[in-house]
Amino acid sequence: MRIGFVGAGKVGFSLGKYMSEHGVNVSGYYSRSENSASEAAEFTGTRVFEGLEAILAESDALFLTVPDGEIEEVWNSLRQYSLAGKYICHCSGVMSSSVFLGIDHKKAYGYSIHPLFAVCDKLQSYRELSRAYFTIEYSDERAGEKVSYWRNLLESFGNEVRIISAEQKILYHSAAVFASNLVTGLFKTATELLMACGFDRKGSEEALYPLFMNNCENIVSQGVTGSLTGPVERADAMTIKKHLDVLLGDDKMIYTALSEKLIKPAEEKNAHRDYSDIKKILEH
Ligand SMILES: NC(=O)c1ccc[n+]([C@@H]2O[C@H](COP(=O)([O-])OP(=O)(O)OC[C@H]3O[C@@H](n4cnc5c(N)ncnc54)[C@H](OP(=O)(O)O)[C@@H]3O)[C@@H](O)[C@H]2O)c1
Repeated sequence: MRIGFVGAGKVGFSLGKYMSEHGVNVSGYYSRSENSASEAAEFTGTRVFEGLEAILAESDALFLTVPDGEIEEVWNSLRQYSLAGKYICHCSGVMSSSVFLGIDHKKAYGYSIHPLFAVCDKLQSYRELSRAYFTIEYSDERAGEKVSYWRNLLESFGNEVRIISAEQKILYHSAAVFASNLVTGLFKTATELLMACGFDRKGSEEALYPLFMNNCENIVSQGVTGSLTGPVERADAMTIKKHLDVLLGDDKMIYTALSEKLIKPAEEKNAHRDYSDIKKILEH
């Protein structure tokens, strides 16, 4: 299987390098700018192609590692060529393979293959990709019959793989946002509250790092229930009430919603503790 990449950005660089390091035959790169394609080809020891037709001729599978907003346009350009038997993949977390409109008539196979990972450095991220779960979603029954190729390939690299449906993709991607970007939003909220107590921005961020890191490490090592501490876990109604008395607007709303979310794991952790008081406070 020769795999070509259309779009030489962070994911194109990283997946191409990751695959070639695992012995996959990566044919090379085509990108909007020849500079990016050349740099990626040099990085992976592969070729530069000057157009879609050229990379298609030398590839059995194409990964469209372009921004989400460009996938449809690249597909529309690709579909003017013969695609019978080709595998067309994109890596968007939120979009499904349904963006490959008419792929069944072209007798090609469509997939979205998404690494659940922040690929932030085009030269370094490939080193960490072995830790990523990948999800695969496919366009139709025919593509489903061939999905084991992609699953086996990724599993042979040591990655965990899950198959999801097109209907699940948006919900799936929102999970990724909750676990990453929205945590940043919570961290920002915490720094603002410290700044309201007189900390400067740098000091407020630095003061929270040990708490933040320690909690992340505990979640990873002990799971959500095992790692849970704080006023909800302790069923400390008085502290929660005090917090709600001073928090305002969105901060109060977020605090309430997330505290409610923690009651179930707290009950699992402490089966004999009574959480009825804090449930009442949070409901009001
Ligand atoms: N970054 C992440 O953390 C991450 C994680 C999982 C999945 N993804 C998905 O991976 C895909 C790529 O994301 P990315 O972060 O790698 O984006 P990126 O770093 O912005 O790279 C996209 C590349 O595509 C090229 N490009 C743009 N329009 C093009 C077109 N019409 N034809 C050919 N090449 C074109 C760009 O061109 P030039 O450089 O040539 O100008 C750029 O190098 C997206 O679908 C994204 O959702 C990203």
